Amino acid sequence: MTTSRQPVVRDAVLAALEGALRAPSEHNTQPWRWTLLPDRLELAVDPHRRLPFTDERGEGVLLACGAALHHLRVGLAARGWTPVVRLDREGPPQRRVAEVAWEPADAVPDDARRQAAAIDRRRTDRRRFAAETIDPGVLDELALVARTFGAALHVVGGHARRALVDAMRDAALLQLDRPGYTAELQRWTHRYAGGADGIPHSARLAEPHLYDDLVLRWFPGGGLHQPPGGADHADVSTLIVLTVDGDDTASVVRAGEAMSAVLLEATAHGLAATPITQVLEVDETRDRVQALTGGHPVVVLRVGRPVPEAPEPPRTPRRDLVSVLVDRSAEPDEQDAR
Ligand SMILES: Cc1cc2nc3c(=O)[nH]c(=O)nc-3n(C[C@H](O)[C@H](O)[C@H](O)COP(=O)(O)O)c2cc1C
Repeated sequence: MTTSRQPVVRDAVLAALEGALRAPSEHNTQPWRWTLLPDRLELAVDPHRRLPFTDERGEGVLLACGAALHHLRVGLAARGWTPVVRLDREGPPQRRVAEVAWEPADAVPDDARRQAAAIDRRRTDRRRFAAETIDPGVLDELALVARTFGAALHVVGGHARRALVDAMRDAALLQLDRPGYTAELQRWTHRYAGGADGIPHSARLAEPHLYDDLVLRWFPGGGLHQPPGGADHADVSTLIVLTVDGDDTASVVRAGEAMSAVLLEATAHGLAATPITQVLEVDETRDRVQALTGGHPVVVLRVGRPVPEAPEPPRTPRRDLVSVLVDRSAEPDEQDAR
């Protein structure tokens, strides 16, 4: 990379990092830390932002970091830079999960342009969806973007859907009994006014998260109402389980990239989605999901068309870039000095 290009790259990298802040994370904990070096970025898990009573196995933080990494990837690509990503195999306790360098690209790939444009529009939507089935061609496209990151999508219907929904209901009950779980939920749903993380009142459903037989994670006392029209209790969503082959750090970070790619692609197609990990956080119910799908299930995606009259769900807050970025780009690189 030539010196004359460096300010241009720096602007592109910082803009892509701003976009990466919008990645989804469990309870909106934003468990990522970035370090900017002269010629690359490093991404690490922020261990203080793990949810020890909810995300006992620590997969949630890796999925969120993977989502942030993918948001960065498309942000760089949309600005004319090809990201060169190296995932760390061992991950925590070293905590670094990936390193990203960049090379000038000849052209901006269409999918990067489309997905980068969806970053600001994507929201977790827990409300009722419209009674409209998703075009199978769109589901195929979602499966294709997941495959790019080594993940498989399982659209769960019929008997398997019933088994998944039963497991989700059981997980919701079992998790409520877990010591520390409810306190953690309170902590991340009742932040100080003006807080830049957690799930705000405006994004939590006012009514219980119950749709017929489908039970979503319960968040206390919300202010988000169901859209007008139709029965409040019907759920017509498509349930999709995302699986990967391995459960090592790099596989789960990659699964987080796949989750992000699917969510952004779904947004680009005008779909709404809820990422759900609750059913996979309880060993017994995770085993039941795994029996349905095979592989290593990492997240369930509830996907559908938004009700036409529904207002946009609120934008959840984020910490600003200076809170999550250490800028060492002006310092001599230790790796080069060695
Ligand atoms: C790994 C992961 C697990 C999540 N699990 C759930 C869940 O079980 N239930 C739910 O309602 N939302 C879940 N979410 C959605 C987050 O609460 C949401 O991403 C966060 O509050 C930020 O809001 P946003 O997605 O609208 O930007 C999960 C998100 C991620 C990335």
